[in-house]
Amino acid sequence: MNKICAVDLFCGAGGLTRGLKAAGINVRLGVDVDAACEYPFSFNNRTRFLLKSVQKLDASEIIRLWGNSRFTLLAGCAPCQPFSLYRQGKTAEKDGRWNLLAEFQRLALETAPTLITMENVPRLAEQSIFAEFIAALEGAKYNVSYQVVKSADYGVPQQRERLVLLASKLGLVELISPTHADKPRTVRQSISKLPALSAGGVHPRDPLHHSADLSPRNLRRIRASKPGGTWRDWDARLVAACHKKKSGKTYPSVYGRMTWDEPAPTMTTQFFGFGNGRFGHPEQDRAISLREGAIIQSFPKTYRFIRPGEPLRIGTLGRLIGNAVPVKLAQAIGRSLVNHVQDFVAKERANRTRPVAGRKSS
Ligand SMILES: C[S@@+](CC[C@H](N)C(=O)[O-])C[C@H]1O[C@@H](n2cnc3c(N)ncnc32)[C@H](O)[C@@H]1O
Repeated sequence: MNKICAVDLFCGAGGLTRGLKAAGINVRLGVDVDAACEYPFSFNNRTRFLLKSVQKLDASEIIRLWGNSRFTLLAGCAPCQPFSLYRQGKTAEKDGRWNLLAEFQRLALETAPTLITMENVPRLAEQSIFAEFIAALEGAKYNVSYQVVKSADYGVPQQRERLVLLASKLGLVELISPTHADKPRTVRQSISKLPALSAGGVHPRDPLHHSADLSPRNLRRIRASKPGGTWRDWDARLVAACHKKKSGKTYPSVYGRMTWDEPAPTMTTQFFGFGNGRFGHPEQDRAISLREGAIIQSFPKTYRFIRPGEPLRIGTLGRLIGNAVPVKLAQAIGRSLVNHVQDFVAKERANRTRPVAGRKSS
């Protein structure tokens, strides 16, 4: 009866939902406009997927799903590209997607759940739309807290930092203490046991263990790359013209190999490309595979992203995996909310059983 019943807006392939479910939250529905999310979201989480724009979603569709659940949660992670570092120089407000946070706000106010959680890129905290979002929740009597979190502190083998907001009508809710602050998981612990692959190769039993092909020039480049190094380690003939220019020198972490004994860099939607970041395998001459990227996002090793027999579209899957809330971070968010509700229920019970002043208990 005290189980939290949730709806996940902008649910993607289900990173957030998977973690919330692992923490014991009953996610009843995921909503997303991208049809490619349907199979991974619903197959792995046994949860209904609604292909619809959140802009067209009516509050009654959510309220109906919650039924008479006592504790309800609206969870969501509006697209973060408008606020990400990669878009520095362009103002977020000019990007039409910024108003998706306003849509999340609309549904939060109209459905009035007990709890709300929202995850996004840290730079969102600098935007006026975020301040407006918080003011609107506080105006509706929510206790709101938010912080920039290192995913590695919660067992995600990745340096990803995220803004996590928690809001509750029951009192102040805060994220649980880090579980891995002194012992972050490393690239070695997460992917070193996977079968070796060559660039362009696919594992016969796991179609997701697939690495993008490399041109002969990029193959020579990765052979010349050291774990944790940069293109500056290469012979001058391998360096791209854009890197030789002054402006190119501000991006030393493209065309890099990961380091075995550290967490991986932040997985972007382009993590499968050697030229797109420090996404080279620490010792094999290739970029990491889609499966390796998913494991670094802390998805279970068996998480399925495509239907059996379906052709693999590397760009689509890179987007679903790179966009996800890391499952272990989502689980920490879920545990924080579950603990909060349990504390509330325990206090409520204690108040009920406390003897009334002046009356003797037998
Ligand atoms: C950052 S991703 C969410 C990742 C997801 N929470 C997870 O953990 O896997 C943002 C998602 O918003 C979806 N999206 C973009 N515009 C949307 C809209 N108008 N309505 C619903 N979903 C939308 C995208 O397709 C994308 O899957």
